[in-house]
Amino acid sequence: MRNVSPFNALLAVALGIAGIHAATARAAETTAHSSSNDLVARGEYLAKAGDCAACHTAPGGEAMAGGLPIDSPFGQIYSSNITPSRTHGIGDYSQAQFARAVREGVRADGTHLYPAMPYPSYAGITDDDMKALYAYFTQGIEPVDKAPPATQLPFPFNQRWLMGGWNLLFAGGKPGAPINGKNAAWNRGRYLVETLGHCDACHTPRNAAMGEKTSLGLSGGQIGPWQAPNITSDPISGIGAWSHQELVQYLRTGSVAGKGQAAGGMAEAIEKSLQYLSDDDLSAIAIYLKDSTPVRNPKDVRPAFQYAGNGEGYEAGLRGHNPGIGLDQPGPGYLALTTGAQLYSGYCASCHQTRGEGTPDAAFPSLTHNSVLGRGNADNLVMVILGGAHIDTQGNEQLMPGFADELDDKQVATLANFVMQHYGNPDAAVTADHVAMLRRGGPNPAAALLPAMIAAAVLLAFVLAWLARFVARRKRMH
Ligand code: HEC
Ligand code: HEC
Ligand code: HEC
Repeated sequence: MRNVSPFNALLAVALGIAGIHAATARAAETTAHSSSNDLVARGEYLAKAGDCAACHTAPGGEAMAGGLPIDSPFGQIYSSNITPSRTHGIGDYSQAQFARAVREGVRADGTHLYPAMPYPSYAGITDDDMKALYAYFTQGIEPVDKAPPATQLPFPFNQRWLMGGWNLLFAGGKPGAPINGKNAAWNRGRYLVETLGHCDACHTPRNAAMGEKTSLGLSGGQIGPWQAPNITSDPISGIGAWSHQELVQYLRTGSVAGKGQAAGGMAEAIEKSLQYLSDDDLSAIAIYLKDSTPVRNPKDVRPAFQYAGNGEGYEAGLRGHNPGIGLDQPGPGYLALTTGAQLYSGYCASCHQTRGEGTPDAAFPSLTHNSVLGRGNADNLVMVILGGAHIDTQGNEQLMPGFADELDDKQVATLANFVMQHYGNPDAAVTADHVAMLRRGGPNPAAALLPAMIAAAVLLAFVLAWLARFVARRKRMH
């Protein structure tokens, strides 16, 4: 216990006044101490639910000391040191200043944070929870007197005050109060999904200015090269056809046979945050998701996990067509097919088996009936082929190696198309150029913004020129 928060100081003073006898005062002190311990413990749980460590603890770095680079379309943004260090952390933040940073994205010195810190989601954190978070961050973790690298974005994005305008448009509208007519579990689920768990930060689509399209909440978003799928209650495009229990299991372990696994940012969210939530809290999340406003993509015709490709193992297919030719000797006219088959045979079949059926114990999951392969695009499959998948939940570790160094873009595209056709959604196709783009870190919305910015600049130039002429004419007239 390092610092005494103003709250605890007040409590101690209040209790001190009330206690006349020394013995009573001592008892009160113990009570104050254990209630502050409770507060810190609650804050720790909330920090888990909010997944603060995902961004504020760099791999191999000290807890909450920041320095993790977060990719944005405009460059890398480094997370802050939020240990109670007085020199480099939040040691000198009052509770109100801390709350303002977390809810509104404004530092104690008045400068704006970038929304790489998900304050638009955290805006709805209750006062009680904020108090507990503050207790945890000021008393529950070790101070680290180290500065994270400075964030240096190019002009105009280095003008932090501009975020004030962005906030007016896209932040601060978070509902806090529970919705009447919905039960406690639903409201708890809503709070965990929309506020603390900031699921929307990944799962809600964004507009050209990177603001969330709130009317399409949770209907699927893009984070770097990854697609965060639609998790609304829609039975075709979303998770409506998952059972309550399957959702809870996915959030706890990242793996449900016949539905899917978690890779990328989702594996991280489960590993660092969701696996630690109580049964009641995970159940509340599932209740809320299954009752969320459904959003259907008209292109989707059945749930992603229903796809099973053409159901053929590649070996049977080859034998049927060309009995004399083995996999290692592609025959004329079979080059494209055998290349995909060869790649699958060489890199994937040892674990996922020749028909993509996985192993019976699901230690190596089935590729058929796997939601990652039932989508309209193969992006997440490509990301898994490149980077592999890893998740570690309470002693249960799952690991798939990545093949970014061994396979070139064309091979990855050929393999992904083969896997989609044989085990997933045969309509999803990917090109080598697309793989190259994903390898570079995904589409660049800043590039998409550029034409709009040039148009705005040209318009501004016109307006200025017109104003100048107008002023000149007025002068002449006088
Ligand atoms: C998705 C990543 C992410 C998550 C999750 C996240 N943060 Fe942050 N946070 C950041 C980044 C990045 C910054 C620095 C932004 C900048 O420099 O503009 C930041 C800055 C802050 C600051 C400002 C400190 C300062 O003076 O610079 C506070 C306080 C803070 N975060 C607290 C929290 C808490 C508490 C949680 C969990 C409830 C949390 N953050 C979760 C990314 C994150
Ligand atoms: C850092 C980004 C990120 C955050 C935060 C996040 N997710 Fe995800 N989520 C993903 C990605 C990416 C996938 C796809 C994983 C894959 O394909 O292996 C995913 C997949 C899922 C799936 C599986 C859906 C399907 O059809 O396969 C569910 C359910 C889910 N997320 C729920 C949640 C909930 C609930 C939260 C908040 C508590 C959350 N996610 C927070 C990125 C995120
Ligand atoms: C050494 C064994 C191994 C090999 C080789 C392997 N995988 Fe995997 N794969 C796994 C394991 C284990 C998982 C589950 C990982 C998890 O749950 O995080 C997995 C998961 C997956 C998933 C689901 C990921 C998600 O986001 O839901 C896909 C798709 C996949 N593998 C495709 C492939 C392809 C294609 C190849 C060939 C390039 C391949 N795997 C090679 C072991 C392997």
